[in-house]
Amino acid sequence: MADDPTTADSGSEPPPPTEVPVVEVPVSEVPVDPGPLPQTMADPTLLTDEAVLADPGGAAPQLGEIAHGPVDGPLSAPILEVQGLTVDFRTDDGEVHAVRGVDFAVSAGEVLAIVGESGSGKSVTAMSILKLLPPSAHVQGKVSWRGEDLLQVSDERMRKVRGAEIAMIFQDPLTALNPVYRVGDQIVEMIQVHEKISKKEARARAIEMLDLVGIPQPDKRIDQYTHEFSGGMRQRAMIAMALSCNPQLIIADEPTTALDVTVQAQVLEVLADLAHRLSVAVVLITHDLGVVAGMADHIGVMYAGRVVETGSVDDTFDSTSHPYTAGLLASLPRLHGDIDQPLVPIGGQPPSMLQPPTGCAFHPRCLFASEEAGCMSVMPELDLKPGGQYAACHRSAELLQAGNLVRRVEVES
Ligand SMILES: Nc1ncnc2c1ncn2[C@@H]1O[C@H](COP(=O)(O)OP(=O)(O)OP(=O)(O)O)[C@@H](O)[C@H]1O
Ligand code: SF4
Ligand SMILES: [Mg+2]
Repeated sequence: MADDPTTADSGSEPPPPTEVPVVEVPVSEVPVDPGPLPQTMADPTLLTDEAVLADPGGAAPQLGEIAHGPVDGPLSAPILEVQGLTVDFRTDDGEVHAVRGVDFAVSAGEVLAIVGESGSGKSVTAMSILKLLPPSAHVQGKVSWRGEDLLQVSDERMRKVRGAEIAMIFQDPLTALNPVYRVGDQIVEMIQVHEKISKKEARARAIEMLDLVGIPQPDKRIDQYTHEFSGGMRQRAMIAMALSCNPQLIIADEPTTALDVTVQAQVLEVLADLAHRLSVAVVLITHDLGVVAGMADHIGVMYAGRVVETGSVDDTFDSTSHPYTAGLLASLPRLHGDIDQPLVPIGGQPPSMLQPPTGCAFHPRCLFASEEAGCMSVMPELDLKPGGQYAACHRSAELLQAGNLVRRVEVES
């Protein structure tokens, strides 16, 4: 179905949202300034990530130095709760059921990873939280942000939420960083849009933020342009920009896919470290279960617009209870042991969201699908599993008990 807009592959990227992003920089107000000669001519190490690699944490300021809004209530109380979220798009081919009843919650200081194959509804879920979807999207459910339902608030209130309370980091830093302006000016401008503080104070905060995300010599770097930053440093600068208004939640949608593996791991580490130290909640969207393992506290695995397994990363990895999660894990490269076992991709393709399969949406690809269990006709709900996480699979109890869920997926796919 080459022309099916919902068939997820790299050639079927959804149209971009009509509204742009979130890290809003009013560039029209920034004086055009050609800036100084690139300092990298004088100090070529400034262009590379070596300095960062040598000092990955950077000279991070102490917690007390960071201006950050108070976190209400105990750390475990969710600040964001998404309940029964559905998103349908009207298209010429029919209605695309992109998100079909998603629930999750995230607390201050917690990293929640949302994982799933292309087209599973990760970005649409994130965009709907910040109301960044095009008018063709019909969004229902509840997005409770510190008790306030964001789906019901005015556009004016939403503009305040974006950037100042919830920041979003995208895959490509250049969507948020303007190459014509110095990186520091953009961060300063961003701070001043959201807070009434002097330019001098905003500049000091910007330097602090660049330092915090591990950019060496932040007092020099602040006056540079994006072309003087390496890919990893741009991504760090974008995190600094997102942090500069002290958001309580950062949504990072595939923030490191464009980076090489080493830099990718470091940028994610910065993000997770900041979440834990500054009590910022992070929703990290990724294709890759590998990056989740060391970074995230909780995980939500999405398939065909629904969460099919969710819980702590340890519980979910230790006692995987959904064949789809097991399949994702089986397709991970192993660093230790099992080196003779081939990597096993999950067979088949993600479904068209114009007409998702009946019953369990994973059934056409599932090795364990059975008529008797209701896989083809009854949509499984998320249930608490013995491992402590929730999974939506009719057969998970027997598959778990048999103890061969992962192995069978590995051997038989
Ligand atoms: N504006 C839109 N109009 C119609 N369909 C859309 C639109 N945006 C997204 N979709 C569809 O919604 C579904 C979920 O898309 P989404 O972008 O959330 O996937 P994803 O999980 O983020 O995938 P990826 O990993 O490739 O980024 C897909 O079937 C996609 O084609
Ligand atoms: S409900 Fe059935 S088809 Fe769905 S994952 Fe479980 S066993 Fe497979
Ligand atoms: Mg996406």
